[in-house]
Amino acid sequence: MRAALAALALCLGLPAALRAQDEVPFVVTPDNVTLAMLELAQVVPQDFVLDLGSGDGRIVIQAARRFGARGLGVELSPQLVELSRQNAAKAGVAERARFVEQDLFKTDLSVASVITMYLLQEVNLQLRPSLLALKPGTRIVSHDWDMGDWRPDRSLTVDAPDKPVGLDKRSRLHLWVVPERAEGTWCGIGAHRDARLRLTQKYQVFEATLSLGPSAQLLAGHIDGTRLRAAGGFDALLEGGRLRITQSGDAPAALAGADFERCAS
Ligand SMILES: C[S@@+](CC[C@H](N)C(=O)[O-])C[C@H]1O[C@@H](n2cnc3c(N)ncnc32)[C@H](O)[C@@H]1O
Repeated sequence: MRAALAALALCLGLPAALRAQDEVPFVVTPDNVTLAMLELAQVVPQDFVLDLGSGDGRIVIQAARRFGARGLGVELSPQLVELSRQNAAKAGVAERARFVEQDLFKTDLSVASVITMYLLQEVNLQLRPSLLALKPGTRIVSHDWDMGDWRPDRSLTVDAPDKPVGLDKRSRLHLWVVPERAEGTWCGIGAHRDARLRLTQKYQVFEATLSLGPSAQLLAGHIDGTRLRAAGGFDALLEGGRLRITQSGDAPAALAGADFERCAS
């Protein structure tokens, strides 16, 4: 009954409250949509693609075959895991496309550089805290369902004539890039020790005050993985616990190249 409800929800896009919480039915992503998902994530051979609820394995297999990536599909149904392994062998990518019978909620997500999902919005929302805690720069692509107020970095609509559900035969794809956790106060170091950057953040969106002596600049921008960009040409990189301003933009030119570390005030 719960699975039937979830299937109905997936087909019709019913409100979250009507959906089974922990059951997502097997519905395939059409091949052209699978390709569009992997292109949206800009998958390259160095990537490790993790498909949560991998069905017949098509996303991980396509990632290996078309993009040369490695990947893992986790799937509750043993029959689908077996079918996926057979499909991977037929496609000649069994070494790089692996499948395990496993609950996606008990899966180590940190192995992935790219996560793909065709689940339900409610399941996406349950996964959201774990996804947000992943390594900055990890890309997440979801077929049809978003993640509430964690807005995607990009969305697009793809014609899906072979889609087995829905009436309009189109799929909506969403991409998120896990943002660095930059919130807090940053103090300039070395020659820039008088500079301060006080930053607040909601998901990928940040606001900050960059001050140097009496001058203060307000910044509003976007965090793209480890990179912070703000209107006015400000650009910074946050890596290894250190924030470096690569372009000061409208802020004092003396701050270009300044390094910052976290500090109390
Ligand atoms: C909508 S299908 C998507 C299949 C495939 N990812 C695709 O896009 O073609 C969702 C899949 O998730 C599986 N699934 C549902 N709940 C799961 C869970 N908790 N852990 C692992 N797999 C699950 C279902 O068995 C089903 O095969």
